[in-house]
Amino acid sequence: MTNDLLNKPAETAAELHPLIRDRWSPRIFDSSHHLSLEEVQSLGEAFRWSASSFNQQPWHVVFARSGSDLFQGVSEGLNEFNQQWATGASVLAVVLANQFEDGSPRDKAATFFDAGIASSQLVTQVEAMGLKAHYMGGIEHDALSITVNAVDRDVVCVIAIGKQGSLANQTEKLVSREITPRSRLDPTAIYTIDHKIA
Ligand SMILES: Cc1cc2nc3c(=O)[nH]c(=O)nc-3n(C[C@H](O)[C@H](O)[C@H](O)COP(=O)(O)O)c2cc1C
Repeated sequence: MTNDLLNKPAETAAELHPLIRDRWSPRIFDSSHHLSLEEVQSLGEAFRWSASSFNQQPWHVVFARSGSDLFQGVSEGLNEFNQQWATGASVLAVVLANQFEDGSPRDKAATFFDAGIASSQLVTQVEAMGLKAHYMGGIEHDALSITVNAVDRDVVCVIAIGKQGSLANQTEKLVSREITPRSRLDPTAIYTIDHKIA
């Protein structure tokens, strides 16, 4: 990583592994960067090897690499705000959840929980590869469903993945959004140890 790249490590109340501490969601990507097929396969494997309820693996992820027709199609399925920055990514990954198992409906909460943790595992692999990811829920679900041929799967989110870009030569608006500090609720609002929730 070169020095002009922004780092936004979490301010933590206890020690944290760098893969988790240093993950954050940038909007400035190096649009000249491309991911090899092997690199994208590694992301697919991280997703594939996530845990799931009854090992039913109710998910699929479609990777669209920059320069492909599919990347253009997925870009058009992002909302206007996300389109402004996410098209600089090297890959747009469309996460799908399957609410059916052998034609029978699955528990909805479990389905989306499973798809969520697989997405998180994929993003951890992104970080381990020195890349960055940004989840997006601001998407056109119906349009994306057609774009990727989701059929009976639900479109959950799109993840922009790529090499973090430099702040140089970016618009003031984008830079000011990018440098906004990360924040979280107080630890006491989030986790409780050795006693009931107060
Ligand atoms: C499911 C989900 C949907 C999100 N949707 C968007 C989005 O549409 N556009 C966007 O710019 N950021 C989106 N985000 C990113 C969050 O705003 C970001 O994760 C949050 O502000 C915390 O910042 P951090 O990831 O840098 O710690 C989304 C995150 C998640 C998990």
